[in-house]
Amino acid sequence: MSKIIVLMGAPGAGKGTQARLLQDRLHLPQISTGDMFRALANEKTALAEEVQNLQAAGKLISDELVIKVVRERTAREDCRNGYILDGFPRTTVQAEMLEGLALDQGHQIVAIFVDVPFELLEKRATGRRICPVCGEIYNIYFRPPAADNVCDHHPDATLVQRPDDTSEKIRVRVETYEQQTKPLLDYYEKAGRLHRVDGTGDKEAIYRYIEKIVNSES
Ligand code: AP5
Ligand code: MG
Repeated sequence: MSKIIVLMGAPGAGKGTQARLLQDRLHLPQISTGDMFRALANEKTALAEEVQNLQAAGKLISDELVIKVVRERTAREDCRNGYILDGFPRTTVQAEMLEGLALDQGHQIVAIFVDVPFELLEKRATGRRICPVCGEIYNIYFRPPAADNVCDHHPDATLVQRPDDTSEKIRVRVETYEQQTKPLLDYYEKAGRLHRVDGTGDKEAIYRYIEKIVNSES
């Protein structure tokens, strides 16, 4: 059966890193709600401004808007054989919406929790640098690019930092996660769909573990 791979985890846990590997190797689209909303940054509408303020503050965007965006994005042709959700669902309302969507679309939900202890998250997020061209994710402590602050694949691209990757914002994001998203682990556990993965090891080792889980679900 086709699958919706739901990557869950705290800010900086490695959801995006693993989602990109899954996308490249399983040929399923990565749908990152965070990236989709960040892409609005250049638009000058009131909605884009509201989204940007919420993201910068580390607060969640309204369920209504997020659900609308996910519904539209997953209706596209490239999602027909399944897709990877990175950063969605984040609330019970979003999780309930996803149940209905999976039923309608004929996909099976596989929830994967990438578990990283709090102490590591700050370094992961403050050290993160991203290529503005291809979205490749680096880390000055754990995965530095070959040349300082330049993407390995785009020598002309200077890596960028997300405005919500300061120590102060990370604390708020982790708090938001603890209050609103962590309870979803129970939700998926009770549904018998939750797989826990140790997110502290090497990214390729974590990937292999995740791929095994995905392939073992039929
Ligand atoms: P979003 O973009 O989803 O951010 P997040 O959940 O805070 O997660 P991050 O992207 O920070 O971390 P990640 O787990 O992807 O880690 P990564 O792989 O980059 O959301 C941002 C905002 O958008 C929210 O605050 C909210 O405002 C809004 N939003 C989004 N979705 C929403 C929703 N559904 N509802 C409402 N609002 C929503 O890795 C982090 C770093 O660690 C990198 O530097 C990486 O190189 C490094 N790293 C990764 N894996 C490893 C490893 N195994 N070993 C060493 N380093 C590693
Ligand atoms: Mg991410």
